[in-house]
Amino acid sequence: MPRLHVNIDHVATVRQARKERNPDPVAAAVICELAGANGITVHLREDRRHIQDRDVRILRQTVKTFLNLEIALTDEMVAIALELMPDAVCVVPENRLELTTEGGLDAAAAAERLAQVLPRLHDAGVTSSVFVDPLPEPIEACAKAGAHYVELHTGGYADARGAARESQLQRLETAARYAHELGLRVNAGHGLDYDNVQPVAALPYVEELNIGHAIVARAVLVGLDAAVREMQDRILGAGQGEG
Ligand code: PXP
Repeated sequence: MPRLHVNIDHVATVRQARKERNPDPVAAAVICELAGANGITVHLREDRRHIQDRDVRILRQTVKTFLNLEIALTDEMVAIALELMPDAVCVVPENRLELTTEGGLDAAAAAERLAQVLPRLHDAGVTSSVFVDPLPEPIEACAKAGAHYVELHTGGYADARGAARESQLQRLETAARYAHELGLRVNAGHGLDYDNVQPVAALPYVEELNIGHAIVARAVLVGLDAAVREMQDRILGAGQGEG
């Protein structure tokens, strides 16, 4: 079964809503690891809308399982990756106006740049991955550029319903088999949740699932009961010698 890597970007999204210290993604990463996550994933976006440089720096020191850093193919991000040395880098496309990573990287168009950047990561001992749509062209381009992994974009599968979902799953399976044939290793992620994860977890060759929003969204709901009770207890304890 694939390993679970928890993407904690949206813990930072809540923090950045107030630009305060809490909730700290570093604390979230510790809890994820204690709960059995096999790795932690963060996306340091060019606009720093959620994860900050400080988060990645501290996570590099504190994550004990596996740290996967998602970056755009810019000079700034490549330099940060080479300085901080996460266990793996996943190259993703980035568009300032998007709410989340919308599609896979056009790896054929980025082939020259990938062929320059990936060897630098490999020489430094960083595993590479490229986030791609489940299509032959970007997978072939990643193989040519020497990537270790492709991460198959599961958003099309997650958004589809009924028969369309079945055909999207088939598309992911075909892509996973093709990537494996070309010598690439395979991860998957985006839009996976508690209801749709199992068929993807059962796909051949998929080694790691990156899941973020669904887990953070569920944590807010399952944690809300305890958070409200704790605040009520503090309020009710006021004037009774507490605090
Ligand atoms: N994989 C990649 C490459 C991503 O960019 C994201 C979103 O940041 C994810 C996985 C996780 O997607 P989600 O938050 O929908 O689980």
